[in-house]
Amino acid sequence: MSRSPEVTNDRPVAIIGAGLVGAGWAIAFARAGLAVRVYDANPDTAAAALPWAASQLDALHRHGLLEEAPQQIVARLTLAHSLAEAVDGAAYAQESVLERVDVKRRLMQDIDAVADETLVVGSSSSGIMASDFALDLAISPRVLIAHPVNPPYLVPVVELVPSRQTAPQTVAFADTLMRGIGQSVVHVRKEIEGFVLNRLQAALLREAWALQRDGIASCEDIDKTVRDGLGWRWSFMGPFETIDLNAPGGVADYAARLGPLYHSIARSRIGDGPWDEQLIARVEQDRRSQLPVDQLAARRDWREERLMEFAVARREAKRD
Ligand SMILES: NC(=O)c1ccc[n+]([C@@H]2O[C@H](COP(=O)([O-])OP(=O)(O)OC[C@H]3O[C@@H](n4cnc5c(N)ncnc54)[C@H](O)[C@@H]3O)[C@@H](O)[C@H]2O)c1
Repeated sequence: MSRSPEVTNDRPVAIIGAGLVGAGWAIAFARAGLAVRVYDANPDTAAAALPWAASQLDALHRHGLLEEAPQQIVARLTLAHSLAEAVDGAAYAQESVLERVDVKRRLMQDIDAVADETLVVGSSSSGIMASDFALDLAISPRVLIAHPVNPPYLVPVVELVPSRQTAPQTVAFADTLMRGIGQSVVHVRKEIEGFVLNRLQAALLREAWALQRDGIASCEDIDKTVRDGLGWRWSFMGPFETIDLNAPGGVADYAARLGPLYHSIARSRIGDGPWDEQLIARVEQDRRSQLPVDQLAARRDWREERLMEFAVARREAKRD
């Protein structure tokens, strides 16, 4: 691959799939100064992504989180009316289509048919491995997982996960690109379903559903335990550093004191099945009593506002 790790306005970024995550990626790339083409199989979704991005950029501006006027960033976003138009001359494409292996495999074949020999493709896949949908194509060495957290322009982490056919230069390219736009890069060394982030989230969710199923605590109290407890530390340190600080002698001391308890808890969940329908209905009823379905979008906006306030607070804290 003779390609420099640069995306410029001559070689823009293509957003393929402009739903919740794709539209968020568009903001992240454009904010960093890159030209971005937005494509979605549903033209209405693509068209809606641009005004939505403009409104989010206005909000970022209000919070003092932009280095230039929102209109200048919006001007870097253009609509593409076909996949071929989106990737034509692009250096990088971020795919954020449905989390279905057949949809992603088909898309990779379609991209393969129209891409030049330098395009790099990052997939937002939440847990499906690239080796399940991007093998044995001309483009395979240039495809990897670039899994964000929603929304990617407000939560910085991105997991880079190569398939077994991804070239090392592709990982290096994505690393440079993602750092360049301000993301925090995690390298997942071996492919595994769910990567790191969603495996960690799965462990927490498995326990949350089980506690709710067994009547141990309400949804609200389980959420509160994370929001007003674990989450306070998690905004600036991870689980290993947390336990290292929670025993006088550090992590080995913590393992000696509490390792058996954690093992016993893990053993108690070995036989757990999938989330069952009755349980889902109960949690749905509980959540809807807190937040009617027609208020989900407004609550998402509320969340983005809180994340912006949080970003400002973190920036101030780093100055100390
Ligand atoms: N929602 C999250 O919290 C989150 C977080 C990280 C990663 N992801 C992953 O990002 C991806 C997208 O998720 P989302 O939440 O944005 O879903 P979404 O349903 O909001 O958006 C998916 C979009 O893809 C479009 N699409 C489907 N097939 C297409 C094709 N062949 N070409 C172009 N567009 C196509 C759809 O029209 C839709 O607008 C999934 O893989 C998901 O697992 C989601």
